[in-house]
Amino acid sequence: MKAPLFEYPSFLYEVSDWEFKKKGLLNRINKQKFIRTELQTFETDRQTAGKTYVNYLSVFLEDILDEFCQEARVTCSMTDAWCVRYHKGDHQDIHNHRGWGFSGVLYVEFDPQVHKPACYMAPWQDPRSDTTYLTYPQNIKEGTLFISPSFTHHYVSPVNVRKPRTVISFDLLPSLSTHQTERIVNES
Ligand SMILES: [Fe+2]
Repeated sequence: MKAPLFEYPSFLYEVSDWEFKKKGLLNRINKQKFIRTELQTFETDRQTAGKTYVNYLSVFLEDILDEFCQEARVTCSMTDAWCVRYHKGDHQDIHNHRGWGFSGVLYVEFDPQVHKPACYMAPWQDPRSDTTYLTYPQNIKEGTLFISPSFTHHYVSPVNVRKPRTVISFDLLPSLSTHQTERIVNES
């Protein structure tokens, strides 16, 4: 019989009353300054100051984030949020966000018929074939929030339609226990 040693702590939630919240979110997002640098194969407001939707987002995600904290058994807070928009031909190379904590992706403009969710790479090889484990979260649609460990490598395949694909990403940093906090202070 199977005797799993680890479970992979990833989580999926649906935002309620999505159409209403989507309008509020897009109204705010569309006022933001999106930037595309030579190094970026997508546009983002990550470097833009004063993002007005972050407060709005944190209020309507409050219940979901409470549920996540209970399920993940952490106390954590959203440190920042940023929007990434992919137009035809855009993609994002494989990356992760940091070595600890969790990262969320809220799918804001997403058509499952023509868009793909981010693809995630397991932190270990498939022991049967010694190959890379790649997988997509299932049942992703607009209003879905997917949360995974921040160290999980992930990428976005090229968008090959004119419909934009828009997500909001954010990091959730768990509070560390006192002995860990003391260690960080002492080491810094
Ligand atoms: Fe990412």
